[in-house]
Amino acid sequence: MTTPAHPSVPHPALAAADPELAALVGAEERLQSTTLRMIASENYVSAAVLEATGTVLQNKYSEGYSGKRYYEGQQNIDLVENLAADRAKRLFGVEHANVQPYSGSPANLAVYLAFAEPGDTVLGMSLPMGGHLTHGWGVSATGKWFKGVSYGVRRDTGCTDLDEVRDIARKERPKIIFCGGTAVPRTIDFAAFAEIAREVDAVLVADIAHIAGLVAGGAHPSPAPYADVISTTTHKTLRGPRGAMLMARATRAKALDKAVFPGLQGGPHNHTTAAIAVALHEAAQPAFRDYAHAVVANAKALADALLARGYDLVSGGTDNHLILLDLTSRDVPGKTAAKALDRAGIVVNYNTVPYDPRKPFDPSGMRIGTPSLTSRGLTPDHMPTVADWIDRGIRAAHAADEETLTTIRSEVADLMAAYPAPGLPVGGEG
Ligand SMILES: Cc1ncc(COP(=O)(O)O)c(C=O)c1O
Repeated sequence: MTTPAHPSVPHPALAAADPELAALVGAEERLQSTTLRMIASENYVSAAVLEATGTVLQNKYSEGYSGKRYYEGQQNIDLVENLAADRAKRLFGVEHANVQPYSGSPANLAVYLAFAEPGDTVLGMSLPMGGHLTHGWGVSATGKWFKGVSYGVRRDTGCTDLDEVRDIARKERPKIIFCGGTAVPRTIDFAAFAEIAREVDAVLVADIAHIAGLVAGGAHPSPAPYADVISTTTHKTLRGPRGAMLMARATRAKALDKAVFPGLQGGPHNHTTAAIAVALHEAAQPAFRDYAHAVVANAKALADALLARGYDLVSGGTDNHLILLDLTSRDVPGKTAAKALDRAGIVVNYNTVPYDPRKPFDPSGMRIGTPSLTSRGLTPDHMPTVADWIDRGIRAAHAADEETLTTIRSEVADLMAAYPAPGLPVGGEG
């Protein structure tokens, strides 16, 4: 998808008022422009989304909901929030959408407040197996204030074993079951999770933070017919601003809304709500369906190219936008590899792999994703080149060969110069 670039001096007021900060923004623009960004949870928003986040809507306080506010002067804000919620309902085929959560973590916390009491049991995928902190993991408030129990993936397949999930659910009788995660390279079987949740009378929450754009674009099945609640961030594959939404059937609406406000939050971030509305409008266009399918096609092509170079991938490949590379057999820790790739202009994150013998802060794997490079227009034809860079980078990390990393960095910058990033100054000046 192409979007117009900013004018050549992108932030004149900022540059005049605070040159020090403007220089940092410019440096980040250059970095995002010249590197191959492969963090699976990141993306480039369009210039329109970026503009919406910088509007006067940010000046307004609006505690409450449309038509029921605690502050006056909501003539426009109510309409903005209605627009965002209506677009969310249409795009995801749900009866209710709350667009106020500040981000994915508070959105998930609101689900606990709505449907559980402190100390209740919640079931989610364990963090080292690909789940999210807020699905009841011990270091999170959700694991401290609730009893978190977890499922994982099978050692032999790298995939979730739904029989195991059912067994745990029957034994633990959780109030809430989370499906979805941060490092899940395979399709989530929402129907099977719903059946388990129904059997044990749990609220099923589909956390589609990572795959929301794929769901919206028809490149991943939708949880809408199955989940009691859909929680999502808006800033990953969906290509919106940093924010979140909670969606549900009408029967769950009141409890969710009460939990978000006044349960957890004060005034909604109206500039973010506006940008969410824009992103949802963009995601409803036919071009976004192409984008979502292209994200998956790129990930599959990259997985194939990495497998052809002898790499081990958790679950043997991918169905979505991300790949989990297990570097155990390469004798390079994930952190060492990720830091070397960063010096080579390829930005990824180190990640635990299932049954990782190493510590979470120095694990065996790397998570790589294709949402951002797809937003720049790269195609499956580019993926062998990308796999080569990753392969050369990892070998260079092993051999402490800084020269090769520098060479890759300039090759990456050359390619990226031909694919301007949405929302960024062309060529990365700024
Ligand atoms: C599955 C999932 N849920 C929730 C979150 C939390 O989102 P945030 O970082 O916006 O709090 C994330 C973020 O990575 C996520 O991957």
